[in-house]
Amino acid sequence: MESTQKALIYFQENLATFMDKYLDLLRIPSVSTDPERKEDVQGACEFLANYLKNMGMEKVEIFPTEMHPIIVAEKLSGKPGAKTLLIYGHYDVQPPDPLNEWITPPFEPTFRGDYLYARGASDMKGQVMASMIALDSVLRTSELPLNIKFILEGEEEIGSPSLEDFIEKHKDLLKCDMILNPDSGMVAPDSPTLVYGLRGLVYFELRIDGPKADLHSGLFGGNVANPAIVISEIIAKLHNPDGSIAVPGFYDNVLPLTEEEKTKIASSHISDDTYIKLTGSPKLYGEVGFTALERQGARPTLDVNGLYSGFIGEGAKTIIPAYAKAKISCRLVPNQEPGEIYNLLIKYIAGLVPDTVRATLFKHSGGPAYLADDAEGMQNLVDALTGTWNRPVTLKREGGSIPVATTMLNFLGVKSLLTGFGLPDDAIHSPNERQHIPTWKKGIQALIRFYMSFASE
Ligand code: BES
Ligand code: ZN
Repeated sequence: MESTQKALIYFQENLATFMDKYLDLLRIPSVSTDPERKEDVQGACEFLANYLKNMGMEKVEIFPTEMHPIIVAEKLSGKPGAKTLLIYGHYDVQPPDPLNEWITPPFEPTFRGDYLYARGASDMKGQVMASMIALDSVLRTSELPLNIKFILEGEEEIGSPSLEDFIEKHKDLLKCDMILNPDSGMVAPDSPTLVYGLRGLVYFELRIDGPKADLHSGLFGGNVANPAIVISEIIAKLHNPDGSIAVPGFYDNVLPLTEEEKTKIASSHISDDTYIKLTGSPKLYGEVGFTALERQGARPTLDVNGLYSGFIGEGAKTIIPAYAKAKISCRLVPNQEPGEIYNLLIKYIAGLVPDTVRATLFKHSGGPAYLADDAEGMQNLVDALTGTWNRPVTLKREGGSIPVATTMLNFLGVKSLLTGFGLPDDAIHSPNERQHIPTWKKGIQALIRFYMSFASE
């Protein structure tokens, strides 16, 4: 029997066991941003390290960092001249909040119809498991003339603070010819997708302090500045009426869109209507002069991700809040440098703060954008995806951020194969996150074909 076929059959015959492993991983609440979940993040790390050992990876090492550990695993094929594939994944997840909006609890994975619901089901425990299960199925059934390495981190959802240093210090350990990063997704269940562009990010918090404590608004209202109003006024000045960002210099280095690139972006055929349906917003909003797909993949944005001030409980309470806080982030595009953009933001915001309050800015995380459609192994992956779906591969410039793709290019000199088997309506980072299981299974079959494609070379 052909060896790819053997691995595909092995996967099919052991699906129940594989599914149990995936469910077990989803039960671990590895929320990287929550200090109370540190042990769970560690638990998810150990779970995956054990799985890597069980499937026959030879060197499996857990490296502690200042926050959450990094796993590196390796299995050399022994074949002279064999290529090395490095697989990236993250085992941390976003916080499940708001908890009361989940139909079933976020860490009790539940099937409804074709979907599996749980935090991380799609982003990206489902994709980590897919790449491991596919490899497991291959290693159980044939000799793979490919060296395999894994790097799995637990800090992706908080901006990977330990990863860049780690990669720089472990260049030899991570040396490879190809990188598979399944942390993006597909545009539709019948459109296997290769992502060739990602946006960068700079994330910070703005805090406005006014009075030393909340004040009675009758006694003091009208005589002190209200931090909630001040922060709203500042936020209102961050955009121009045409939807563009008002920070001077913000667009200076933005890579302009050529006609060729516009055509390429349009080729993923997602209509405005699809975005309206996906978001539930009554109408789309964005920078004038660009299509929704261009705005998503190739134009920078500035968003408020959280806003807090004063009394937000039930009922009424008459106070002047002592402070107001906003979590703000910008998605960046190629040639915008996160550090430079943050400096422009500091300067502009400082000029908007009245002397009736005190302002503090605090930076969380950042990372540059990514753009490359010529990663090593691309044709193998395209063939594997097409061979599984019997549909052409869609090329997509994505709006999300995977800064490690740029870090790896800078330090390892290797471009990443960005794919994944999540769908736009998986509700990642949102309540009721889910994974479409038929798509996940196809994804595993495609990865089996991808790994095995190196066997016939
Ligand atoms: N998997 C996502 C990024 C993603 C989603 C890329 C869909 C392409 C399509 C990843 O886990 C993520 O959410 N990353 C953060 C990065 C940030 C914290 C530096 C993001 O984009 O917000
Ligand atoms: Zn992710």
